[in-house]
Amino acid sequence: MRPLLFNLDSDPLLAQQLTEQIEGEAGNINQRHFPDLETYLRIDSDCTDRDCIVFCNLFQPNDKIMPLIFLADTLRELGARKIALVTPYLCYMRQDKRFQPGECVNAIPFGRLISNYVDQLITIDPHLHRIHHLDEVYQIPSQVVKASPLIADWVNENISKPLFLGPDSESEQWVQDVANRANSPFIILEKTRHGDRDVEITLPDLKQWQGHTPVLVDDIISSGRTMLTTLLQINKLGLERPYCIGVHGIFADQAYLELQQQAQVITTGTIPHPSNGIDISSALSTAIRQWLNR
Ligand code: R5P
Repeated sequence: MRPLLFNLDSDPLLAQQLTEQIEGEAGNINQRHFPDLETYLRIDSDCTDRDCIVFCNLFQPNDKIMPLIFLADTLRELGARKIALVTPYLCYMRQDKRFQPGECVNAIPFGRLISNYVDQLITIDPHLHRIHHLDEVYQIPSQVVKASPLIADWVNENISKPLFLGPDSESEQWVQDVANRANSPFIILEKTRHGDRDVEITLPDLKQWQGHTPVLVDDIISSGRTMLTTLLQINKLGLERPYCIGVHGIFADQAYLELQQQAQVITTGTIPHPSNGIDISSALSTAIRQWLNR
């Protein structure tokens, strides 16, 4: 029987592409709010003995989490064979340490919650920094799809002499991989974060890279301060107009507009946004097919 893919409040185009690429069937759910704003959810597809994919993209996650729990729990109760959560962006990974006494280390309780309801997690480049592997916070198997081959292909097609720059030490894991795949140089910068919107970037001397196009790569663009602070410094050096590439473009407030003034901004399609230029659907559907074939 064909697998069922349920789109829970997420990108309908990507849901359709994934359903087609895995030769699945769109699952039907009826969802609304009761007058008291609690969630009503009903599954209108027969999920008995079927492999079920819950496609729920967990950016701006809080409103999606209860429907996700209700859907996964009901699928299980109605006899689904196995259930995977597919979220191109995995939330709550950046609060991966108790920075101040009493703080919640969000990644841990969130991982525990999701692990209670689904059998598999499939995502794209989660923010693994102080947590080195999803197994440290999820008690279920996970598959991580890498965006670096997709970014490298895009750069190879669009930029002739890139110099890759990673804004901080965490970015090295992506930047090095992309640069190696694109057979091009890379430099990792130093970042000090003083607050949510206050970062300091130290740039080395880049004179020897005249003629190269600076390509800044990071996993998440949120407030955009990391990218913006770096770009403002790069643009004083008289190099080519830079590119700013993010795996996950969250773009809080005016971040996108501010970045566009400094660089060409490109993101992968993990979060629907006008900057999306790098397709993720086939990499994601390959991962889903691998899980289905197990
Ligand atoms: C954090 O270390 C990440 O890799 C990004 O650099 C960070 O999330 C970017 O955040 P913002 O856009 O708010 O500076």
